Amino acid sequence: MKKITVIAFFISLFASAALAEGHSNEVNIFSARHYDSDVQLYEKFTAKTGIIVNVVSGKDKALQKRIIEEGKDSKADLYITADAGRLGAFQEKGMFQKGASSSAIKKAVPANFRTAYWTGIAKRARIIYYSPERVNVSDLDGMTYENLADPKWKGKVVIRQSNNVYNQSLVASLIKNNGKKATAEWAKGLVANMARDSKGNDRAQILAVAAGEADLAVANTYYLALMLSGKKGPEQQAAAKKVKPFFPNQNDRGTHMNISGGGILKYAPNKANAIKLLEFLVSKEAQEHIVNNTFEYPMVDGVEPHKLVAQMGLGFKEDLKTKVSSYGKKQADALEVMLAASWK
Ligand SMILES: [Fe+2]
Repeated sequence: MKKITVIAFFISLFASAALAEGHSNEVNIFSARHYDSDVQLYEKFTAKTGIIVNVVSGKDKALQKRIIEEGKDSKADLYITADAGRLGAFQEKGMFQKGASSSAIKKAVPANFRTAYWTGIAKRARIIYYSPERVNVSDLDGMTYENLADPKWKGKVVIRQSNNVYNQSLVASLIKNNGKKATAEWAKGLVANMARDSKGNDRAQILAVAAGEADLAVANTYYLALMLSGKKGPEQQAAAKKVKPFFPNQNDRGTHMNISGGGILKYAPNKANAIKLLEFLVSKEAQEHIVNNTFEYPMVDGVEPHKLVAQMGLGFKEDLKTKVSSYGKKQADALEVMLAASWK
């Protein structure tokens, strides 16, 4: 509770002191991304263009609530966050305006990772991690997300809770491909295979496999690289070395992909600058900065991922068939089937 109050105070202080009143040389970002490296990136943008970047950081729910409540008076130009499901759901509420698909953005970002309202700025895959001590690679031959519900994995799978948007987007993609009924059955099978009630963040799932509590975990790609980098301490680094990444659905539609991204808000006072900033974020220079700090995949061609990410496996088949814009549309259905399966 105390933490929430402090964040709210910080946000309101920032708002009254620093937000631009539509001056043409500024842009106001509301960001739920928690990377210091993003701020360095905005400084590069300012150095290049002279446009001052004001950032309001916070949790998604708090930022969205404030943007909705302030309505036409909002000074927010750009909302930046992780997960296409979040961007899509906010779009469904009518909070974005068109503009995120300028010709430069269209040229840089593949069509399935953007809409007219928002665009991806980096990619991630949600993959399976396994214990090479307890799982034969041959058991994973042809493995899919769908197979996570196979009774042969009973008591061996860990994945975080159903309230997590990454899981909601993964399940949304299954609904999009297999239908709601089949996905509801799948969710029941997955819950029956869980090694424990879902708890913890993505790294906690990888740690559970390393500790022998489970054989398979589901987590995003950048977390393993983050742990391997040592930035989360020597224990997590050692644990990360005990698990191996596996990219599912290589024989059919490909591995589930997601994005972090940004959209131009409905009442943005500095729309032109917001578009310029999005264009900068998908430039080669910015992409190199992003991938080397966050361990995400680049959104554009011609930029290499960080070497810790590259060593997890390059050239895997991405699911480019399922548009990330479907995640927000199927989010409510996804949550419904997860809760019906008693997924914590
Ligand atoms: Fe994350």
